[in-house]
Amino acid sequence: MNIFRFERNIAIKSIRYRKNVTRNSALPQELIILGLESSCDETAIAVVRRSADGHGEILSNIILSQIKDHAPYGGVVPEIAARAHVDHIDRLILEALDEARIGFAGLDGVAATSGPGLIGGVMVGLMSAKAIALAYDLPLIGVNHLEGHALTVRLTNAVEFPYLLLLASGGHTQLLTVYGVGQYRRIGATLDDALGEAYDKTAKLLSLGFPGGPAVEAAAMEGDPERFALPRPLKGSLEPNFSFSGLKTALRHAAQDNAPLKAQDIRDLCASFQAAVTDVLSEKCALAMRLHAQSLKEDTARRFVMAGGVAANTAIRQSLTRLCEKDGFELTIPPPRLCTDNGAMIAWAGAERLALGPGDDLAIPARARWPLDADAAPLKGAGVKA
Ligand code: KG4
Ligand code: ZN
Repeated sequence: MNIFRFERNIAIKSIRYRKNVTRNSALPQELIILGLESSCDETAIAVVRRSADGHGEILSNIILSQIKDHAPYGGVVPEIAARAHVDHIDRLILEALDEARIGFAGLDGVAATSGPGLIGGVMVGLMSAKAIALAYDLPLIGVNHLEGHALTVRLTNAVEFPYLLLLASGGHTQLLTVYGVGQYRRIGATLDDALGEAYDKTAKLLSLGFPGGPAVEAAAMEGDPERFALPRPLKGSLEPNFSFSGLKTALRHAAQDNAPLKAQDIRDLCASFQAAVTDVLSEKCALAMRLHAQSLKEDTARRFVMAGGVAANTAIRQSLTRLCEKDGFELTIPPPRLCTDNGAMIAWAGAERLALGPGDDLAIPARARWPLDADAAPLKGAGVKA
């Protein structure tokens, strides 16, 4: 990181926007946080303001996708991802500050994803944040990427704790109760593939490109969801866990049986896949909602939240809306662009953490794995991405 370049570009604004705050005092205060996300294939930088009453505002949110760099390989190549983060992160930090009309000295802290994720990329973001924290004497907050997803609804919709959370991304699919910042209890999770991964593998099998979720969703819109009778794995079991690898295998067999595939076959396969997914999600979420409701005091609101990249899926959003209406839960899902990876979610999680206590030591490590509920028994098949 070229700190001198930062100085030159930002010094004047820094003075203009310098704030006079006492960090971590007992009084609630406004916090402006720079957030760095680099755990997978997006270099994403944002500046977020958390006001003293807990409301959030995004001042800038820049996302540089590496999709084109990875597309020829049909998936994210960790070494290519890490190098691309190094190439762009300095410039994007400056752009995000500029767009937010703030300098380093106007910040109250710098947050970076410090896990889980592809370790090379995580290190790039975390080291950049450490350099900024050191140079500008700012608190550093090492954010769990999953916590970033989990808390985004409090940035967009000020949702109060506790809430039931379905977190579904490219590397994780979990149902959790969120009691507070840093307080998570896992209710269920996938036993094998993550849901986003299942979408990506389906897209790869059908040559729809990467990332697969949006492509499968688009193809499914024009397809017949009843043409292929794909399995609903773990449906009927009393555990709120998921399994998606059998669905993927069944889809492969259906594709092979109908080869060569015509465009309409592909659309029907996608629609049938998505119908199986929404069916299973509805049943498992209904089960988790019953367990969650039983654990609440009578006067506590029943809140349900979905987060992570798969939460951008319209069919899934609609099916959860119907489910929550039926079961008396208040559903909140952040807007699609804040469901997929972004820097605002990291800045916001950093702000939430800093509002409650001090930042982290500059020696904190980058972590490839970092469960939200450290007490939950390990499950087979946890992914590396978030
Ligand atoms: O949260 P995210 O951006 O990155 C991770 O932390 O993994 O999630 C990315 C995942 C990918 O697997 C992608 O295919 C999936 O989310 N995804 C979707 C949609 N948009 C992104 N899956 C289904 N439907 C979508 N519209
Ligand atoms: Zn993510």
